[in-house]
Amino acid sequence: MPKQTQLTWTDRALLSRALHRLLFKRLLGMTLAVCILTACGFYLVERARFTATLRDNVLFSAARFQLLAQEQLNTPGLGDHKRLQDILDNFMLYGQQQQQGAAATLTLMDTQGRVAASRRNPAFNSAPELDGYLEAKRYQLPAESGGVLYELVFLGPRPFLHILIPFANAKGNAVAYGECLFAIRESVIHDANLRMGLTLALAVSLVLATSGLLYPVLLRLLRQMHTNFLDLLEANLESLSVLSRASAKRDSDVDSHSYRVTIYAVRLGERMALDRQAMRSLIKGAFLHDVGKIGIRDALLHKPGRLSPEEMEEMRQHVQHGRDIVSRSTWLRDALEVLGGHHERFDGTGYDQQLKGQDIPLVARIFAVADVFDALATARPYKKALPYEAAIGIMGSGRGSHFDSEVFDAFWPIATDLHRICSTSSSQELDATLRNLC
Ligand SMILES: [Fe+2]
Repeated sequence: MPKQTQLTWTDRALLSRALHRLLFKRLLGMTLAVCILTACGFYLVERARFTATLRDNVLFSAARFQLLAQEQLNTPGLGDHKRLQDILDNFMLYGQQQQQGAAATLTLMDTQGRVAASRRNPAFNSAPELDGYLEAKRYQLPAESGGVLYELVFLGPRPFLHILIPFANAKGNAVAYGECLFAIRESVIHDANLRMGLTLALAVSLVLATSGLLYPVLLRLLRQMHTNFLDLLEANLESLSVLSRASAKRDSDVDSHSYRVTIYAVRLGERMALDRQAMRSLIKGAFLHDVGKIGIRDALLHKPGRLSPEEMEEMRQHVQHGRDIVSRSTWLRDALEVLGGHHERFDGTGYDQQLKGQDIPLVARIFAVADVFDALATARPYKKALPYEAAIGIMGSGRGSHFDSEVFDAFWPIATDLHRICSTSSSQELDATLRNLC
């Protein structure tokens, strides 16, 4: 077992490379995620800023219209609608020249949405998509907010600012609304896209540069942490090894019993689809199941022949001794279920808690099958090994009483091969087999 617990430099190099790949993937994923979030954030902010700038320009132009139409706006019912239409026509032709674009349609309504004057820019006479859009998306009057409403929309390939502008009379009361589809000049869009692209490229470059600078720092820290973790793991594995070997020596046995029962138990655990945590518990428990025999006196451990009832009772104390030893270690505590339940019987006649059926932890029920089979099928200082058929026959008679039927049924189909491999393998070969399993 000591050799088994050592992590070689090759192992460490492989783990280091795996760590390198893991950090690279994680950092790349996070960098891409931050880039995408940054891009989305910048796009939304720039779009809002661009739209607000357009709104302000349109409102500046609308203020000029307000001056031209103030007399009509001050008159109830918006005064003479024909006069208002003339003002609107002139404004559309001469009064709304802007760098950002021009109004494609402008409709003047009273506060209830009744049209008082309307004008369409001739340049957009052959643009039916504008009519379709306005029909579906016209702002509803009276407007709830009473303020300016606006939205950037794309009709066909071209962007428009759809805006609702309130107009007030001399007393400051809103008496009319102008609904306008403002066609944005392509050069304005081009400049905005260029500005947005440059800002975005700068932001993404900053994110990538930050990730690039962080990578070696994080890798160094992670490697240091990983080295510490491996050292700790080695120390824990050595504890497992030392305790396992100590109990084997006290029992006049060699490490091969621990190896065999662990191999049997792991194979059986795989067939019973144990999860990762249960397998960890099973392996630790298999190695440490008899660690409590350290606390049993030699005269009892090495006594030839049968034990008296008093001696048997004393021997049974090894389960509690094992609990006392293992429960002091957080890392070894995983072994408790197997250690504490490996002498329980499915019918409740085992020891030391007389647990019955499903009350016995599954890993202990699995280990009990592995442990008893190995005890029957291998030689001990005080007995010969039983032939395979005799051992499995005795096991079968305990199906449903000593052993959980389900566990036994999962074991016997693999027992022949496992017994052949384990009975013909040296300690070194068992060590290698176990190393591959774990
Ligand atoms: Fe035991």
